[in-house]
Amino acid sequence: MALKTFSTYAFLCLSIIWPSFCTKENPKLVQDENPKLFQAEIIFVHGIYVMHLSIGSPPVDIYGSVDTGSDLVWTQCEPCPQSQCFRQEASLFDPKKSSTYNSISCFSFQCVIAGTNCSEGDCIYSLAYGRGLHGSFSSGNIATETLTFGSTSGKPLEMPKIIFGCGHNNSESPNTPSNQTGTIGLGPGSSSLISQMATSIAGKFSYCLPHQGSSTINFGGIVAGAGVVSTPLIIRDHYYLTLEAISRTLLPLECHSNLKLVMSNMIRAQPIEIKIGEPGLSDILCYNISSQPELPEVTIHFKGADVKLSPSNIFQNISDDLMCSAFRGGDANTIYGNIMQINFLIGYDIEQRTVSFKSTHCANN
Ligand SMILES: *[C@@H]1O[C@H](CO)[C@@H](O)[C@H](O)[C@H]1NC(C)=O
Ligand SMILES: *[C@@H]1O[C@H](CO)[C@@H](O)[C@H](O)[C@H]1NC(C)=O
Ligand SMILES: *[C@@H]1O[C@H](CO)[C@@H](O)[C@H](O)[C@H]1NC(C)=O
Ligand SMILES: *[C@@H]1O[C@H](CO)[C@@H](O)[C@H](O)[C@H]1NC(C)=O
Ligand SMILES: *[C@@H]1O[C@H](CO)[C@@H](O)[C@H](O)[C@H]1NC(C)=O
Repeated sequence: MALKTFSTYAFLCLSIIWPSFCTKENPKLVQDENPKLFQAEIIFVHGIYVMHLSIGSPPVDIYGSVDTGSDLVWTQCEPCPQSQCFRQEASLFDPKKSSTYNSISCFSFQCVIAGTNCSEGDCIYSLAYGRGLHGSFSSGNIATETLTFGSTSGKPLEMPKIIFGCGHNNSESPNTPSNQTGTIGLGPGSSSLISQMATSIAGKFSYCLPHQGSSTINFGGIVAGAGVVSTPLIIRDHYYLTLEAISRTLLPLECHSNLKLVMSNMIRAQPIEIKIGEPGLSDILCYNISSQPELPEVTIHFKGADVKLSPSNIFQNISDDLMCSAFRGGDANTIYGNIMQINFLIGYDIEQRTVSFKSTHCANN
């Protein structure tokens, strides 16, 4: 059986800051009765999470992979010759058929915000989502459009003049043929959906990743109530959380620069070395399922917030006989990825600079 995708590590990444003694570097959803809470469906498809929105007038469905590790919202656009676009099930967005599409000149502030480039007076972008197996790219025109969301009132809500990328030369990761049409960047940069919607959503959004099926992402509103823990959010090029320790039941673990080592010390079974031929992946801890490794419950101690993970937040079956840790090793860029976030309601508050966690069963159905 083929290896399942590892691309789940690339999305919804919260980076971890190690305690200063490890590295030199120091670095219940309350839906406030506000009927205008923007919402969107998040669907788990082939190992990634895609967000369903509509773009343009009349609105056309888009399914963007959710990415807190990048900023720009982009979707594949007409014209897009077959060799330059990947297959998508939804029909391709055609800017010529939308009355709200506005192209952006090189000299406008939107072009500067999107940090892009000029071609014959048009503002263009070119993005590569690089590391690991998620080797996808997109290039095209920067433009503005109306995005249409769902809402708590059940009525569609429009966000006009959102800067986005109209992609005319795109490739998805070969491992994620996931029916997506592009990417929804939720990162901290000024071109991201979150930054552009900031005043309408008071800098707040929350999501709950299901094991399968779909759930809802809320823009605005906060995560509060019993069982909620919060940790400071540090905003730089990405979102960062401060890790203070990792423990298994009562046993606190010594700090290691390598999570693989931390995990393997907790499990009484012989790890398997795997080479998948991608940089970074050799750091992943894997076991032969038939050796029945006893998987630990692990608590991640963020500053001010202890998050208790279940084995399914830590290990993933990637083939019939192989299970691998969701922790990616390395010291500098440890990522608290999708799998570790499953079945937690996670709320970001950009204004108060906090991230909150609440253990929750996430699937809508
Ligand atoms: C692909 O997208 C279409 C909408 O265009 C949706 O109806 C369908 O369920 C999706 N397929 C998968 C496998 O997610
Ligand atoms: C803009 O495009 C030029 C020519 O293709 C290239 O050399 C330059 O690196 C680009 N700049 C950015 C910021 O992408
Ligand atoms: C599409 O993008 C790829 C990767 O950046 C590039 O190699 C190729 O030349 C581009 N094709 C066109 C027609 O611009
Ligand atoms: C896992 O163990 C079984 C039984 O010992 C063996 O047949 C299989 O090849 C092993 N798989 C891997 C990936 O090592
Ligand atoms: C992984 O595979 C094992 C053995 O087949 C099974 O017991 C377990 O439930 C699977 N875990 C997940 C998360 O699918």
